[in-house]
Amino acid sequence: MVDKLELRTRLIRRATLRQLEIFEAVARLRSFSRAAESLCLTQPTVSMQIRKLAEAVGMPLLEKVGKGVFLTEAGRELYTVCLELFGTIDRFEMTVANLRGLKQGSLRVTAVTTAEYFLPRILGYFCQRYPGIDISLEVTNREHALERMRHNVDDLYICGQPPEELDVAAVPFLDNPLVVVAAADHPLASQRRVPLERIAQEPLLLREPGSGTRLAAEKFFATRGIVPRVRMELGSNEAIKQAVAGGLGISVLSGHALVHGSGGLVVLPVAGFPLRRSWYVVYPKGKQLSVVARTFLAFVVQEGKGFASGWPWEEREKAQGGGRARVRRRRSRHGRG
Ligand code: PGA
Repeated sequence: MVDKLELRTRLIRRATLRQLEIFEAVARLRSFSRAAESLCLTQPTVSMQIRKLAEAVGMPLLEKVGKGVFLTEAGRELYTVCLELFGTIDRFEMTVANLRGLKQGSLRVTAVTTAEYFLPRILGYFCQRYPGIDISLEVTNREHALERMRHNVDDLYICGQPPEELDVAAVPFLDNPLVVVAAADHPLASQRRVPLERIAQEPLLLREPGSGTRLAAEKFFATRGIVPRVRMELGSNEAIKQAVAGGLGISVLSGHALVHGSGGLVVLPVAGFPLRRSWYVVYPKGKQLSVVARTFLAFVVQEGKGFASGWPWEEREKAQGGGRARVRRRRSRHGRG
């Protein structure tokens, strides 16, 4: 039996809060790599901190059996301690933040265009929880969002890919898969698998220059040596959806552009797709985030999970045991999507 009191005394003397935070993430996610990703750390750092924590406690905390990570008895007790501890700290931070400015305050967020499919709803929930905060949301394409970041205009930015050219902190919070879409009556729509090279023969509709979706699609095609036949550039996801449904060509879009209605489109099962990407909350490194901005960041990471699964084409593929999928309305766990 592990003596809880003794465990706590040892912890207070020797473990750091950071180690407990890392342990909590590994225990919750049952994975070193997922914990590393969620904390923006490398896997060796996570392993080393867990080892040091086990030394501080004087007992093993985790067991690796096969590919699984399991808690030992001491690990389970420590996990309970962590939940209590972080719960208390969260409540304390909330109290202080409320005292400092969450009752009144402002938040400026710039998001890339495609985030408009989910971000306003997250903002809505945030406003309900913190009704005193004034929020301004600028929705623009990636290039313009990065320009604002360069000039430190906003508190936080929501992007499909952190900029490599700027020194930023980036916290992933939600999947952002890119898929190939075509009109429902497109000849390729009935195929179970479409080779990537086949896509190069189809007229392609692309978002405007400066769009993150376009950048990601172009990069992908370039790395695979594919030269697409670009037929037209359009300045919004909705315009692209209409043009694709009208038979002007195929396109590459974020899955988020499809979850609220297929509008006569299908997702083509193209080799190499969906492109797995994430949404990130980004801010310039070194920026002192306001209490409101920090609270919003934590809120987005928490709430973002509710928009993270149940992609319509995956549901359909599962139902069909693989193959193509017609885009269908997806329900978020909030039941409002
Ligand atoms: P965009 O960016 O809306 O500018 O295309 C989206 C993304 O980067 O995923």
